Amino acid sequence: MSTTTPSSHPAWKRLGRLATARVGGPRQVHALTIDVAGLHIDFSKQHLDPEVLDALIALSREVGINAARDEMFSGEAVNVTEDRPALHTALRASAEDQPLAVRDEISSAQARQQRLVTALRDGTWRGYTGKPIRTLVHVGIGGSHLGPALVIEALRTNQRSHQPTREPIDCRFLANVDAHATHALLDALDPETTLFVIASKSFTTTETLVNATTLRAWFLERALDIGAIAQHFIAITANEAAATAFGIPALNVLPMWDWVGGRYSLWSCVGFPVAVSIGNEGFAALLGGARQLDQHFRSANEVENAPLLMALAGIWNSNFRGAQSHAVLCYDQRLAGLVTYLQQLEMESNGKTVRRDGTRTDVHTSPILWGGEETNGQHAFHQLLHQGSRAFSADFIACVEPGHARASQPRLDQHHRWLLANCLGQSEALLAGRSLGPVHQQSSGARTSTTILLDRLDAATLGALIALYEHKVFCQGMIWDINPFDQWGVEFGKQLGSTIHTELGGGASKQHDSATRLLMDRIRHGGSTEQR
Ligand code: F6P
Repeated sequence: MSTTTPSSHPAWKRLGRLATARVGGPRQVHALTIDVAGLHIDFSKQHLDPEVLDALIALSREVGINAARDEMFSGEAVNVTEDRPALHTALRASAEDQPLAVRDEISSAQARQQRLVTALRDGTWRGYTGKPIRTLVHVGIGGSHLGPALVIEALRTNQRSHQPTREPIDCRFLANVDAHATHALLDALDPETTLFVIASKSFTTTETLVNATTLRAWFLERALDIGAIAQHFIAITANEAAATAFGIPALNVLPMWDWVGGRYSLWSCVGFPVAVSIGNEGFAALLGGARQLDQHFRSANEVENAPLLMALAGIWNSNFRGAQSHAVLCYDQRLAGLVTYLQQLEMESNGKTVRRDGTRTDVHTSPILWGGEETNGQHAFHQLLHQGSRAFSADFIACVEPGHARASQPRLDQHHRWLLANCLGQSEALLAGRSLGPVHQQSSGARTSTTILLDRLDAATLGALIALYEHKVFCQGMIWDINPFDQWGVEFGKQLGSTIHTELGGGASKQHDSATRLLMDRIRHGGSTEQR
């Protein structure tokens, strides 16, 4: 058992003293910006004065972040509770930087993925009636859904430039087990021109298997030929046996590995629909952007290290300044999927209270992450940000280049200027506060934030942005001394859901609390008896 709990580090104690001395917080800025991989990350509106920064960096040294980082990149079993490496970074590394143990597997998987992508995009892959594929349906949930959905949505406007000659393949997603989603999808599908991609690392996830089974039945009712599955179903999984038992030929199974966590798997063949959407070159650019961030994380010294500083700003805000939640405010409609993606990345990784050695943490870990698309939030929840009683921290994200110019349309630069003006105006108002005017119009200010400006939104900058958050999460996990790569907490609820599913279907009753039992009775009896 390690005796050094997070709060027993000398630097942690020093930070506690600094926080007490700074109650209320100064409103002035301390210039601190980093430029990397097309991202400009501005910490100047954080309360990171030189003394605080020095103590935070001392903390990162005391917990040994640099050594832990190097262990992760080199393929040590940093996922200690599952005794495996976490090698998502190898998926985007150049061959010489990949650990030898995984180099061949990665390059052969990437080559297979690229061949499939080319065949789909150039139309040589044909459906059972000889027509090229026009729609890709990606079935998967959590880490097998959120990354591809985020990237495809974010780069949709770039898609045409990536495939100028043919109509792009339309990528759709099915994640939820809710049949409303399944019906809505099926209504618009043509079986002759649709490819189903079943993505599940485990190939045991209920939602994905229920949806995949429904889609297979729907398809076979129309194709009337089991052999046609080979032209219309692909699996992405670490469990090839389960995928082939489901009926997908081994040739159509792209690999995943236990050394890549689900929420870190965008860079693997889980990114297949991204490559179909933006092409092999586009996917390579996504990996390239993440790789640039990786190199920065590995080589930049602490005061210039963007993911480390993001992590430290978060620790300062949540552990010392009382922030209970972290808002990610995206001033770009194309990044609509980012908040949900980061919710899994941050909260599934660091929403834990047991340390790596199995003892309890003595400090708060991941704050609740939430946020939205702006400026919409300004007309909804920003009231609480400006005048509410709860402490929070925030990231403002925006793109300098509008990216919405199309030959056939006006540039609408006014819109973009409004968007950016609001982004800056909100963070300025939150920091400065207002002491003039009637009391109901005043706000305390001293609410800190980081601003991330992308030069433009493209595959490379998006890859870098995602990797930035991945490494932030890693650094915070190391400071809180938890394992960011497992997710045991979600298993228990899944087990109970599965028991209740059997009981709702007529199976023998098991023991439940009285509230759950009454709800089950009501569902079994079709709802309210009064209405019938
Ligand atoms: O339930 C949580 C989880 O295991 C996530 O960690 C994962 O991304 C998701 O389910 C999907 O898992 P799979 O890819 O095995 O279907």
